[in-house]
This record gives sequence, C-alpha cells and structure tokens, in this order.
Amino acid sequence: MYSSKITGLGYYVPENVVTNNDLTQWMETSDEWIQERTGIKERRWIDPKTEDTTAVMGAKAAKIAIERAGLTKDDIDFIIFATLSPDMYFPGGGVQIQDLLEMPTIGALDVRNQCSGFIYSLSVADQFIKTGMYKNILVIGSENHSGGLERSTRGRGVTVIFGDGAGAAVLSRNEEEGKGILSSHLHSEGKHAKELALIGPSTNRWVPEIIADNDPDDVSYFPHMNGQFVFKHAVVRFSEAIIEGLQANGLQKDDIDMLIPHQANLRIAQFIQKKFALSDDKVYNNIMRYGNTTAASIIIALTEAWEEGKIKDNDLVVLAAFGSGFTWGSVVIRW
Ligand code: UT7
Repeated sequence: MYSSKITGLGYYVPENVVTNNDLTQWMETSDEWIQERTGIKERRWIDPKTEDTTAVMGAKAAKIAIERAGLTKDDIDFIIFATLSPDMYFPGGGVQIQDLLEMPTIGALDVRNQCSGFIYSLSVADQFIKTGMYKNILVIGSENHSGGLERSTRGRGVTVIFGDGAGAAVLSRNEEEGKGILSSHLHSEGKHAKELALIGPSTNRWVPEIIADNDPDDVSYFPHMNGQFVFKHAVVRFSEAIIEGLQANGLQKDDIDMLIPHQANLRIAQFIQKKFALSDDKVYNNIMRYGNTTAASIIIALTEAWEEGKIKDNDLVVLAAFGSGFTWGSVVIRW
C-alpha cells in the first residue's frame, strides 16, 4: 500500500477588502459586535467587475500549488474540487478547472461537504493514492459566498461571517517512510441539515415556485444558520475529531506541532486551543483577515502557515473541520 503527502500548496483571495465598517452601509452591525463574537476584522469579497468566480479563483490557487509541487498540469492525474458555491448548478467546478488549466481529459470529482469539504477531499485523494490508482491529485477548495449573501439587517447573522477565496494542494505518492497523511476520519449527522443550509433554489424549492410565491419574507434562497446551535455542536465535534485522529496514531495532544482548525469563528478555535492546552504558536488562525471561506478555509490557512515557515519538516500537523450537514472530520499529517 502506498501513502500520500502534500507536495504543493497555493491560495488566491480576491483583492477587494470589505471591512466590518464597510458592512454598515448595508446593515445594522458594528465592528465591535463582529470582532467580539467572531474575531473577524475584514474579509475579501469578489468585485463583480473582475473575472473572479469560484472556478477562476480555484484555478489561480491550483496553478501556484502545481508549480510549488515541481510539477506541470500534465502531471496531474485527477482533480477533486470542493465548494458549496459553484459557478453553475451543474456541472460542478471540477470540469471547469480541467478546462481553465488546459489539462488533459483526466477525471474531475466534485465534493459537496461545505466547511468539511477540504478534509473530505483530502481523504478521498489519499485513498486514490494509497491504492496506487493515481500519483498526483489536485485538491481545491474555493468559495464565492459574497454573490449569494443577503446584504441587509435581516441577513446579518450570516452575511458578516463569510468571505471569498480559494486554496489548492497537490497530493502526491509519498516516498518517505512515516511521512505524509497518517489518517483521516470523516463524520456526518444529517438530521441537522437545515440548521445551516441554503434550501432553494433546488429541486425541493425550484425557481418557478419561488417566483410564483413572490413572498418578500421568503429567505429560502439565502443561507440560513442557527448560530448558537451550530456553535454548540462545533466545539464538541471539533474536539472529537482531533482526539480520534490522535488516538488512531497512538499520539497525544502534546505531539501536535500545528493545529489548523476550519476558520468558522475565532471563539471556537480559542476554545479548542484551550481544551488541548496548545500554545499560540501551535494553532493557526486567519479568520481575522478572511472571515469564513468554508471549503477554502483550511487550505488557505495551511498555505499561509507553511509560507510563514510555521510548518517544518517532520512536524505533526492536524487539520480539523466542522460545518453544514452537519459534517466534520480530521486529517493528521506528518510533514
Ligand atoms: O463554518 C460552519 C460552522 N459555523 C459555525 O461554527 C458558526 C457557529 N456560530 C457562531 O459562530 C455564532 O453563533 C455567530 C457568530 C453566528 C453568532 O454569534 P452569537 O453570539 O451566537 O449571537 P446570536 O446569534 O445569539 O445573536 C445575538 C444578538 C441577537 O440580537 P438579540 O436577539 O439578542 O437582540 C442578534 O440579532 O446579536 C444580534 N446579531 C447581530 N448584531 C450585530 C446577529 N448578528 C449580528 C450582527 N451585528 N452581524
């Protein structure tokens, strides 16, 4: 059985910075409220006048990751693309990446696991490499949230949290004993699907129905989050996923060199940091600058931490996510 390791990382965020104060032009909110409850200071939102879309941002991040892996687009055997905000209802964004990067006619798989999208994608890629089916897999997480958020006081509970951006990793067959992805664990609990969801437009509530109802109070086509409920589950599931990953490898919390939690809320990350008694240099957060970028959040944070020299050879890196579905999971990596 083979094993896999990350050989290239890249990210791309739109240039347009939206500060907390900028949001007050659309809704009743404040820099103080947003920072206190979430830790977010600013986020990037696509300027519609630019070319950026979910797929375009993903392709930009992917180019960097492929180059850093020392590969060319023609060396990639398979694409895995995670997003909850694809450019089109169908097809998914994976095929757009194949086209934008002018890649050969390799397979492209789309992953719909929201904030856990990158964890799920990495796990799937790891399995394909373990079996020997593929050698180099491009894994992308990308989100265009800003296009679908409700910019009004009614939507503020969700809108202030989310940002746009993309990250990419190349996962390759590993040649070094004991290195690379050590384990991945994935979970879901669908009974809570509607606690963090965008219900329509969908086959369940399709466009003609929404138009026919013409109901000004219909918010089904905006994302909905039962914030406190999600928060309470997040802190429990994050912890479980990390413990499960450590235990599967016979490791302790003291063995963690770098924890990269999905950037859902700085308060959640701080709760986890405290629970695992990790020092500040062992947890990487960038929610202050980007908000919650869902499937892109872990990979952007991982790339930044690596670029800043905070992840070194042989470090134990733990990635953990929780989000809509509910879905959650962890990946443990020996760098
Ligand atoms: O990434 C996927 C997973 N997501 C998460 O894990 C997110 C988990 N949840 C959270 O991070 C937090 O619940 C939020 C940041 C979403 C909300 O924070 P909260 O402390 O749970 O606030 P709340 O929803 O209980 O709202 C408290 C008050 C309400 O007013 P009243 O009813 O007390 O008068 C809200 O209407 O704050 C109000 N509020 C706001 N005020 C100013 C809600 N959003 C805003 C806002 N600005 N943006």
